[in-house]
Amino acid sequence: IDREREELRTRVCELEARLRGEETIRRQLHNKVQELKGNIRVYCRVRPSLPSETSVSLINMEFANDTDIIVRNNSKSSTLSKKSQQARMSFSFDKAFCPETTQVTIYQETAQLVQSVLDGYNVCIFAYGQTGSGKTFTMESDIKGRDTWGVIPRAMEQVFFSAKDLMSKGWKYEIQASFLEIYTETIRDLLGNPDSKHEIKQVTTNNGKQVNDVFVTNLKAVAVTSSDQVSSLLRKAYENRSVAATNCNDRSSRSHSVFQLKLVGSNEINGELSQGVLSLVDLAGSESISQSGSTGLRLKEAKHINQSLTHLGTVFNSLAKKASHVPYRNSKLTHLLQNSLGGNSKSLMFVNVSPREDSFQETLCSLRFATQV
Ligand SMILES: Nc1ncnc2c1ncn2[C@@H]1O[C@H](COP(=O)(O)OP(=O)(O)O)[C@@H](O)[C@H]1O
Ligand SMILES: [Mg+2]
Repeated sequence: IDREREELRTRVCELEARLRGEETIRRQLHNKVQELKGNIRVYCRVRPSLPSETSVSLINMEFANDTDIIVRNNSKSSTLSKKSQQARMSFSFDKAFCPETTQVTIYQETAQLVQSVLDGYNVCIFAYGQTGSGKTFTMESDIKGRDTWGVIPRAMEQVFFSAKDLMSKGWKYEIQASFLEIYTETIRDLLGNPDSKHEIKQVTTNNGKQVNDVFVTNLKAVAVTSSDQVSSLLRKAYENRSVAATNCNDRSSRSHSVFQLKLVGSNEINGELSQGVLSLVDLAGSESISQSGSTGLRLKEAKHINQSLTHLGTVFNSLAKKASHVPYRNSKLTHLLQNSLGGNSKSLMFVNVSPREDSFQETLCSLRFATQV
């Protein structure tokens, strides 16, 4: 019996070692697949018409091959040029989601990137679009229950579930959350002191290999161990945001919100280390605000939003062209995300559009921006 037990023990050790080896191979293959799919991806999502919009006319849109959107304008709006009045325009993305697409389907196409964070890559997921196009719906949870959960709560569930699962393969993760907003190029901490001042700094650490770490001074980072704990943090952040909104109504559509989860993994058995940051960004509304009509604060906000979204587009463009210089420093947002855009990190941009005919011009602008990305 002793000999049998000894043999079994040896066998278990062999199998465990093999499993760890296969986990390393899985990581490499998963990354290869993600790179083949593209380190920068763009998904377009058209929101459905809302119950309150039953009498609003809609843009004529067709969806083809899961990837294409064809828009036709059926209005004779005088604000449109002759060309866009008659045009039939076709746009192609990595995915194009029609209005009926559920949050579950959206997440199925996103989950692979969340896996990459556990594997030690930096991942950014953005929601871009005009106010009312469905950015927050796509990213956040919804009080109406699990079916309407957006990317953030689903990603939290996946992260904690996978981290637990990977424990059997020797991995232990330390997870930290932070949440900030960028409003007129100023950073505000949504978890810590809302009045403290912040700067973006860079340090070069050397743990095995040279790492250029970007961090925000005075920003609160909370160690988290469960998705429930993250939910309560998120609730606190939303409250902080709405407090600010009393002086300046609907601030959320005029600031970028950046939720970050930093995962540091170590494998006590084979000594491997991994560090990944997941950034989930609900961008400020992209609608153009008539510069002539707005004054004061509104004009200042519009200018900052416009510039930072343009810089974001430029950064993606430089990355796609493999330019030698990428102008990350031109805006707070790209500076902050410098290590999560480019290199072997992965980005996904949801371009949210409204189906309303009176949003036709904005929808075209968003589809064009998305095409450029
Ligand atoms: N895919 C969708 N299905 C159902 N309702 C949606 C969808 N997308 C957006 N909505 C609803 O449309 C409205 C505007 O969406 P919201 O996410 O707040 O837009 P944004 O954040 O871009 O300003 C909200 O009432 C939201 O619940
Ligand atoms: Mg919103």
